[in-house]
Amino acid sequence: MTKHTMSVAEAIRTRRTVRHYLPDPIPQSMLDELLDLAVEAPTSWNLQDRSIVAVSGDEGRAGLAWATGGQPQPQEAPVVLVFVAEPQAWREDHGDVYEQARRSGAWNDEFIAGFSAASQAFQEDLDRRGLLREYAVKDAVIAASFVMLAATGMGLATSPMNGWDEAKVKKVIGIADRDDLAVALLVSVGYPAQERPHPGRRPRRRTVFYESYGAAATPSQDG
Ligand SMILES: Cc1cc2nc3c(=O)[nH]c(=O)nc-3n(C[C@H](O)[C@H](O)[C@H](O)COP(=O)(O)O)c2cc1C
Repeated sequence: MTKHTMSVAEAIRTRRTVRHYLPDPIPQSMLDELLDLAVEAPTSWNLQDRSIVAVSGDEGRAGLAWATGGQPQPQEAPVVLVFVAEPQAWREDHGDVYEQARRSGAWNDEFIAGFSAASQAFQEDLDRRGLLREYAVKDAVIAASFVMLAATGMGLATSPMNGWDEAKVKKVIGIADRDDLAVALLVSVGYPAQERPHPGRRPRRRTVFYESYGAAATPSQDG
């Protein structure tokens, strides 16, 4: 396991979007740990309705460069993670998830019965309202956020990417014919070849409110 010396707060404050990378590969043990941490991210109803495709081969990265309209990250970074949302996954059997929670003592049979029924009802309601994709994308993007922070803690750089053609990304990762899957986000990972200054954030009083949206900042809120 990689030794982490950076606090979570430090990782959050020092993470920057890096567009240029050194050609150095990421050791497999490090990538394994990063992916282990990614799947620790929570999901709605513990559905685990997202997958990650780690693309590190030359052909795959060239394909993602094509899919992103020539962004430098897939061409230069040794690994690009494609976060795939699975909006229909709730329809599948989740017996393995319940069994794990039962064995660990986290959930008992009574809880599982109620949870399972409630999650199905919740997802059916999302389906009626056309929101299944949006909710699965939320879960995938939370995992991507975990990856960006974990990578920073390991001394790696990342870039989230929205700039791509979904049909092309799906083709590259072998799901061109899967209408039940959606691409949520791409994240490049590697060793940085550039230092990027913090572009800054609006003052907190502009984007953080108490009790109601747009409410005036409290006197203690000096950020
Ligand atoms: C969802 C999302 C998608 C993004 N897509 C791209 C992208 O396609 N290409 C790129 O170079 N940067 C992309 N960015 C990076 C943003 O431009 C960057 O996060 C922002 O300017 C703030 O800089 P920082 O990440 O260094 O704090 C994306 C960021 C987010 C959160």
